[in-house]
Amino acid sequence: MSFKICLLPGDGIGPEVTAAAVSVLERAAAQHHFAFTTSEHPIGGVALRTSGLPFPDATRQAVLAADAVLLGAVGAPEFDREPPVRKPETGLLQLRQALGGFANLRPVLRYPNAGSTPLKDEIVTGADFIVVRELTGGIYFGQPRGFAPGRQSAHNTMVYSVEEIERVARIAFSLAAERRGKLTSVDKANVLEVSQLWRETVIHVAADYPGVKLDHLYIDNAAMQILLRPRDFDVLLTGNLFGDILSDEAGVLAGSLGLLPSASIGGRVGLYEPVHGSAPDLAGQDVSNPLGAILSAALLLRYSLRQPAAAQAIEAAVARTLADGLRTRDIAGGGASLGCRAMTAAVIARL
Ligand code: IPM
Ligand code: MG
Repeated sequence: MSFKICLLPGDGIGPEVTAAAVSVLERAAAQHHFAFTTSEHPIGGVALRTSGLPFPDATRQAVLAADAVLLGAVGAPEFDREPPVRKPETGLLQLRQALGGFANLRPVLRYPNAGSTPLKDEIVTGADFIVVRELTGGIYFGQPRGFAPGRQSAHNTMVYSVEEIERVARIAFSLAAERRGKLTSVDKANVLEVSQLWRETVIHVAADYPGVKLDHLYIDNAAMQILLRPRDFDVLLTGNLFGDILSDEAGVLAGSLGLLPSASIGGRVGLYEPVHGSAPDLAGQDVSNPLGAILSAALLLRYSLRQPAAAQAIEAAVARTLADGLRTRDIAGGGASLGCRAMTAAVIARL
């Protein structure tokens, strides 16, 4: 049995963290008796430079023919002033739509003493929740959108259908049922009709999951509560924009955005990407944190290749690496740190 993994290293630190994840996957495959082949394709800024498009057709065909897709990061400052069709981020959004993974799982785990955080240890220790972010709808894709002639105003549309809310809610409820049985749905139902429909629909779906305790928070309050009492949360269900915001904030709880992985499931092919961006200022210096990408590879094994033992082994190796005090610069708090390659070797040595 040999799986096809499509690699999209992308921009900035994307290539180095992707290479790190692949070397960990190679070791895991040898240990757990499965095989995979990889192919590499451009997306984002690298694709724009060579083909003028952020998500070229050849890349689209390759991802749709794969068993799973592993992405590094997209984004490059040289395109900041370009129109949307010439932005690396547009390539990522087109990729997500092509694959159709509407449920973006972003686990947030505070490893014991994982790194410096401005938050008190007694508050963050033991935090372990997962953000389920709707990924292919909402204000990111809603129509109409655009600038009025003369650019004196601009508009976007936050829209969700009952069907879109239901399908992502079911994934969140199922996850909660396997975890600690708590689901917090995040909305802005005190102001937005789209959030009122979100809340009604989630309450309706809850009837099928009697073992899960459901509550609701407004997004502004949720942003505060996850910092005040992070341990109380198990699964957080959000729309596209609210989940984008909460997951960066959650990076502070974990110790660094560089530690957070993600999986986008429910579509034709699973997409796995670290939550961090391309960090162009760090690119090529071997100082990035590979753990977000390595943990994304573990999610790839769990959700797309159905290799739960290998996934768990990688997660355990990462936990041991951190427990042994090894740090990349983002989590070293000014102390001694390893580069991306040495940190990856440390994880492999513990696998
Ligand atoms: C993320 C990123 C992307 C998003 C950007 C790069 C388009 O911030 O994955 O969280 O907004 O979804
Ligand atoms: Mg984001």
